[in-house]
Amino acid sequence: MMKNILVTGGAGYIGSHTTLQLLLGGFKVVVVDNLDNSSELAIQRVKELAAEFSSNLSIVKVDLRDKLAVEKLFSWTKFDAVIHFAGLKAVGESVQKPLLYYNNNIIGTVNLLEVMSLHGCKRLVFSSSATVYGWPKEVPCTEEFPLSAANPYGRTKLFIEEICRDVQRSDAEWKIILLRYFNPVGAHPSGHIGEDPRGIPNNLMPFMQQVAVGRRPHLTVYGTDYNTKDGTGVRDYIHVVDLADGHIAALNKLFKANLACEVYNLGTGKGTTVLEMVAAFEKASGKKIPIVMAERRPGDAEIVYASTEKAERELNWRAKYGIDEMCRDQWNWASKNPYGYGSPDNKDD
Ligand code: NAD
Ligand code: WQD
Repeated sequence: MMKNILVTGGAGYIGSHTTLQLLLGGFKVVVVDNLDNSSELAIQRVKELAAEFSSNLSIVKVDLRDKLAVEKLFSWTKFDAVIHFAGLKAVGESVQKPLLYYNNNIIGTVNLLEVMSLHGCKRLVFSSSATVYGWPKEVPCTEEFPLSAANPYGRTKLFIEEICRDVQRSDAEWKIILLRYFNPVGAHPSGHIGEDPRGIPNNLMPFMQQVAVGRRPHLTVYGTDYNTKDGTGVRDYIHVVDLADGHIAALNKLFKANLACEVYNLGTGKGTTVLEMVAAFEKASGKKIPIVMAERRPGDAEIVYASTEKAERELNWRAKYGIDEMCRDQWNWASKNPYGYGSPDNKDD
């Protein structure tokens, strides 16, 4: 029997790539998304890429905070597991609008868990983040490191992790995997799906991509006095297709193993500086990226990268791609879709 997976936030960046890998892996998928930060076109493209598997995908436009609508969905369809991506993720916005983040991320998740419990669907994979390590005192970050939050967005991830642990402790039928992503970048190698942030991008790669296609004049490099090989910040960039495959590995674990609530880092275990990333992207795109050196960005950590041992050992998963492939696929997506899924006219930048 084919397993039926509910993917919340499945029209978004990581969700669309994971949905594709699920379909290709023989799963049935229902995407639920309010399309607040995504386009239905992403789902159409996923269908095209999934070819003969496309009939196993459907999308429902629902906001997780609309509990009645979520209940309706579960009363129509039996789900074997849920992968929960849906949430707001812009750090700066979360500082300006904390209540929006608590409302959307926390209430959406609590509704989802309540409805899952009511319908006896108690297998969950949740999108957590390396942001829960705060400013790590050492690297690589292992799953046992102390947790902290540097902003309201990070606090929603921390709270949701704790909520999941409480729910599982209260009812041993629950099996939950919390995945802490490091820095997802790149795109599907076809160049048909990728990241399409609204407004001015907050993150390095989407910003650099917009410089390369001529939408922005230069990249600002935040901080040149860090204690790193070239003075710029170090992060663990991971190809989004590797990340998507990590979700299939987590699902397989949920279906096969006897587990309670487990947490895994999804990263490559390698640290890369901002300037190394710029050089790799220039090589992949053949474009010069003008840079302006600036002060550190408030709240930024110096060096963050993952210990990948636990995921390798227990999920039998490891990242395959390096930064050259990440930049190649990012550029392939950018050059084919310089305005993402939209036209230049309806972009709000
Ligand atoms: P994204 O914004 O592209 O995707 C999130 C999707 O969720 C969007 O399609 C959005 O429309 C939808 N959504 C948001 N709130 C919703 C709600 N209340 N009801 C229904 N749908 C809703 O983001 P992404 O980069 O694909 O991230 C996916 C998840 O992974 C998020 O939870 C994010 O916090 C987490 N994460 C992302 C990163 C990253 O750097 N991209 C790193 C660590 C963790
Ligand atoms: C990477 C490096 C910047 C932009 C954020 C969230 C985190 C997680 C992933 C969701 C840093 C530098 C960036 C720019 C720059 N998301 N940079 N110029 O900060 O590691 O993490 O995304 O969970 O919660 O905080 O990623 O891509 O913003 O920055 O120099 O225009 O690039 O200073 O060293 P970050 P990032």
